[in-house]
Amino acid sequence: MISKINIAIIGASGYTGGELLRLLIHHPYIDNIQAISTRNTNKLISDIHRDLGGDTHLAFTEHINLDIVDCIFLCLPHGSSAMWLENNTIPHHIRIIDLSSDFRNSAFPLDKNEERSFIYGLPELYKSLYTPSTDIANPGCFATCIQLSLLPLRNSDISKDILDIHCTAITGSTGAGTLKSDTSHFSWRDNNTQVYKPFQHQHETEIHNHLFKQDFTPTFHFIPMRGSFTRGILACSYFTVKQHIQKDDLIHLYSSFYKDMPFIVHSKDSPDCKRAINTNKFFYHIEIINDKVIITATLDNLLKGASGQAIQNMNILFSFPEISGLSIKSSVY
Ligand SMILES: NC(=O)c1ccc[n+]([C@@H]2O[C@H](COP(=O)([O-])OP(=O)(O)OC[C@H]3O[C@@H](n4cnc5c(N)ncnc54)[C@H](OP(=O)(O)O)[C@@H]3O)[C@@H](O)[C@H]2O)c1
Repeated sequence: MISKINIAIIGASGYTGGELLRLLIHHPYIDNIQAISTRNTNKLISDIHRDLGGDTHLAFTEHINLDIVDCIFLCLPHGSSAMWLENNTIPHHIRIIDLSSDFRNSAFPLDKNEERSFIYGLPELYKSLYTPSTDIANPGCFATCIQLSLLPLRNSDISKDILDIHCTAITGSTGAGTLKSDTSHFSWRDNNTQVYKPFQHQHETEIHNHLFKQDFTPTFHFIPMRGSFTRGILACSYFTVKQHIQKDDLIHLYSSFYKDMPFIVHSKDSPDCKRAINTNKFFYHIEIINDKVIITATLDNLLKGASGQAIQNMNILFSFPEISGLSIKSSVY
């Protein structure tokens, strides 16, 4: 019999914290939930995440009770997760899943008294390496979408021939968190689109560290864009192949690589964002036109790109079925 665990969410009033609450309240293997918030201490969770009215009577607390927690989700801005771990001595038996970028690029010694080792939490790449004592550095949303788009190519016959990969990807406004900014203001974002950080988006470091290794070291050209929608990422990657390659062979390569991965879905048509929104799924489509291979993919930045993937990682760490709490319905209409 699987025993239930207790969890805590730090930064629980933000977008990713809210998504974790929505899913973990109904998760079959979660018992107690602590929702920690500095700005909303003592307020009801449903006063901030209004859609949770009727689902929970829990309130936000200021401090974590370490006696009743098995797993902590850090939903804090970049830099704040590392600081939170420096300021709080967390017993070694408690697992950490960090959604920020603080531990994504290496294993970090953290604490004065003990060391923690963070594994890059892209389950489709590394889940066989998870152990009951590893902590998780949850990947970035663009980084998840782009790596899942290209991962099967890494050990393929054509990997050495791929010299350049071009990728354009567009994200919704929730990708930037709840803090208001010029580019998240409705009047600017609505009916608007913009390129930002071309060739220098912060997720390129993750992609280079974890995807482009061994014989697969193409030059990567990434143009990120902001779109006038709330959630979702659509990424289109393409590259030239020297040798003739059949589309069916490439589809077979991908479906073999992803055969035991429950959230990875091959799409026969070019996928739209809406089919992935509110799910933990990653949809990909493969097209070959002349000598160009085009991989188009979509996911929900807040789920497979953040909180859904964090729960998938928790499920694996605690030996729950990988899809527990994540069989959720899209809002396609
Ligand atoms: N949004 C996405 O699509 C996405 C995807 C992948 C990864 N991430 C990463 O996940 C982390 C959380 O993202 P999010 O979108 O949930 O952000 P968010 O909506 O801005 O929430 C962050 C929460 O952190 C707490 N906090 C503590 N110190 C803070 C500070 N100095 N400034 C602002 N907030 C502070 C606040 O919660 P309290 O008031 O409750 O304490 C705040 O609600 C970030 O590192 C982000 O990069 C986000």
